[in-house]
Amino acid sequence: MAMPILELRKLTKRFGNLMALREFDLDINQGELIGVIGPNGSGKTTLFNLISGYYRHFEGEIIYGGKRISGLRPDQIARKGIARVFQSYMLYEDTSVLENTTRCCYLRCETNSWQSFFNTSRYRKEEVNQRAEAEELLQPVGLAELRDSLAGKLPYGYCRLLGVAMALATNPTLLLLDEPMAGISHDEKGLVINLIKKLRDQGITVMLVEHDVKAVVDICPRLVVLDFGRKIADGRPEEVTTDRKVIEAYLGVEQG
Ligand SMILES: Nc1ncnc2c1ncn2[C@@H]1O[C@H](COP(=O)(O)OP(=O)(O)OP(=O)(O)O)[C@@H](O)[C@H]1O
Ligand SMILES: [Mg+2]
Repeated sequence: MAMPILELRKLTKRFGNLMALREFDLDINQGELIGVIGPNGSGKTTLFNLISGYYRHFEGEIIYGGKRISGLRPDQIARKGIARVFQSYMLYEDTSVLENTTRCCYLRCETNSWQSFFNTSRYRKEEVNQRAEAEELLQPVGLAELRDSLAGKLPYGYCRLLGVAMALATNPTLLLLDEPMAGISHDEKGLVINLIKKLRDQGITVMLVEHDVKAVVDICPRLVVLDFGRKIADGRPEEVTTDRKVIEAYLGVEQG
């Protein structure tokens, strides 16, 4: 039995009196593709904020690759191989699609700023490599032809795809995707689904938060369901989607 790559132990996050996440436990094995669903405000983004180090004041423990990472800064966590795609992205709007992706390749760049300052040959070589890698990443997300467009001028759906390419540029072992399919067209959705399958085939561990339950059920062999910050189900899609607690959580929201 493999050791889990990510262990979440009793994660609890409070905002004043509100408990956005309550005693959340989860083990994820390397290479798993796991869907996280739940009604609006159930704590999905909060969960990603804790794992990625965006919130540092919380209760519980996060263990990644056998080491405790709770309390580390987002950049330290990113360097350990956890990449996160935000529900809405932070793009460099005035630079090109390719440049945005290339900048993310720098995140894992070993060359330090001194070398870049003196423009050493090693640095120049890495820069060329990173540009080539960035170009390769744009292909599967359907952005190769838009590589020279300004990120700020991209249609919404393509911004989301660029966000995924940027996260991949950091060469992650664990990828956290927060609603990569929200507000995008049917064709773009197909691109994202194919991309996620490709990542799974490469052995990258993926946590996918998505409101399109059908899409999640189709591609994720395991689903976790949140309701009011609590984990109410964890299992195979056919188990989870027929679970009474899950159905009630969703119906409760629909009926207001
Ligand atoms: N910075 C914050 N300050 C106060 N309350 C917050 C903050 N962030 C989230 N919350 C609250 O915590 C709860 C969980 O929010 P969260 O964003 O994690 O939900 P979610 O499942 O991602 O929702 P959605 O599906 O709408 O994206 C909600 O009640 C939300 O209002
Ligand atoms: Mg959210």
